[in-house]
Amino acid sequence: MAALISSLLILSLVHVGHALSVNYYAKTCPHVETAVTKAVKKAMANDRTASAALLRMHFHDCFIRGCDGSVLLNSEGNNTAEKDGPPNISLHAFYVIDNAKKAVEAACPGVVSCADILALAARDAVVLSGGPTWEVPKGRLDGRVSKASETKQLPAPTFNFSQLKQSFSQRGLCTEDLVALSGGHTLGFSHCSSFQNRIHNFDASHDLDPSMNPSFAASLQKVCPTHNKVKNAGSTMDSTTTTFDNVYYKLLLQGKSLFSSDQALLTHPKTKGLVSKFASSQEAFNEAFVRSMIKMSEITGGQEVRLDCRVVNGQR
Ligand code: HEM
Ligand SMILES: *[C@@H]1O[C@H](CO)[C@@H](O)[C@H](O)[C@H]1NC(C)=O
Ligand SMILES: *[C@@H]1O[C@H](CO)[C@@H](O)[C@H](O)[C@H]1NC(C)=O
Ligand SMILES: *[C@@H]1O[C@H](CO)[C@@H](O)[C@H](O)[C@H]1NC(C)=O
Repeated sequence: MAALISSLLILSLVHVGHALSVNYYAKTCPHVETAVTKAVKKAMANDRTASAALLRMHFHDCFIRGCDGSVLLNSEGNNTAEKDGPPNISLHAFYVIDNAKKAVEAACPGVVSCADILALAARDAVVLSGGPTWEVPKGRLDGRVSKASETKQLPAPTFNFSQLKQSFSQRGLCTEDLVALSGGHTLGFSHCSSFQNRIHNFDASHDLDPSMNPSFAASLQKVCPTHNKVKNAGSTMDSTTTTFDNVYYKLLLQGKSLFSSDQALLTHPKTKGLVSKFASSQEAFNEAFVRSMIKMSEITGGQEVRLDCRVVNGQR
């Protein structure tokens, strides 16, 4: 009995202060999740691109300075923020976070971080697209720094396996996380610039990446001709772009993925095995995705609960 009490005590001490918890706002803001879900639902009803945008936004947030809402900050004065940096292409739907924050501030002012709202919104976007659900650990704090120059730290779509592995392992994420989280590419859209390396002058002897399905590559070349001036041209990430499913992995096995970084998952036996597993089992993918999303979302940083998700406290 004494041993039980002391181990419970140790467990509760471990959670004081830094650790995230699914019950973090149980007393201080019990309806936070309802408010965020409502804002995401409303956005998705009017905007088919919102779900993908929210999922990607959370990923970018977590990969730079931890999940601290740095991706949400606006450029100010001389500082160019992450969202105005080069890989910001496709980042949008910041208004969803603003709307959710407004509702949450009305109910419990100054309590819920923007980083937590974004983590919840990303989960809701997955659920409302037909994907799995999970309990989001909460208690993140918002950061005060957002620099466009730091978006260089994001993995690039041209990355090979060892570069991807390094980028993920620097953040405590393993190769299974890499494969499962790449499944986020079941939602959304990509601009031509993100996969042009594979369809024009791939290498000295190939115009097209030979690992691509030839007719798929030809269809991408058609929408993305070399001197493409159509600003918004590109391709959906998979054939069921608003549904969270495992079609991404099925297409990947057929040479129908957009990025070199997707294709790279097939270049190692272990990750290729996981791709095959997820392609043949939606359930296996869902389980792995949930596990890895929670892991990614627990990379923390930050020091305040921002009042306006676009501006650090005290600036205005
Ligand atoms: C493994 C490394 C990754 C690379 C190199 C990568 C790269 C990219 C690129 C280049 C785009 C297209 C941008 C554009 O041209 O518009 C994109 C889109 C997207 N990515 Fe990733 N990504 C990675 C991992 C992830 C992860 C971990 C998630 C989430 C779990 C994610 C979710 C998305 C989503 C949802 C979109 C579509 C965005 C939209 O339609 O607004 N990606 N990614
Ligand atoms: C911007 O930088 C210039 C010179 O580099 C400086 O004079 C100015 O005060 C800065 N403005 C702000 C808002 O930080
Ligand atoms: C992306 O950055 C460019 C400047 O590099 C900026 O003009 C544009 O507004 C940014 N896009 C978003 C969605 O913030
Ligand atoms: C991956 O890319 C890096 C940087 O271009 C390169 O140094 C490395 O050799 C590549 N690795 C493989 C296995 O191709």
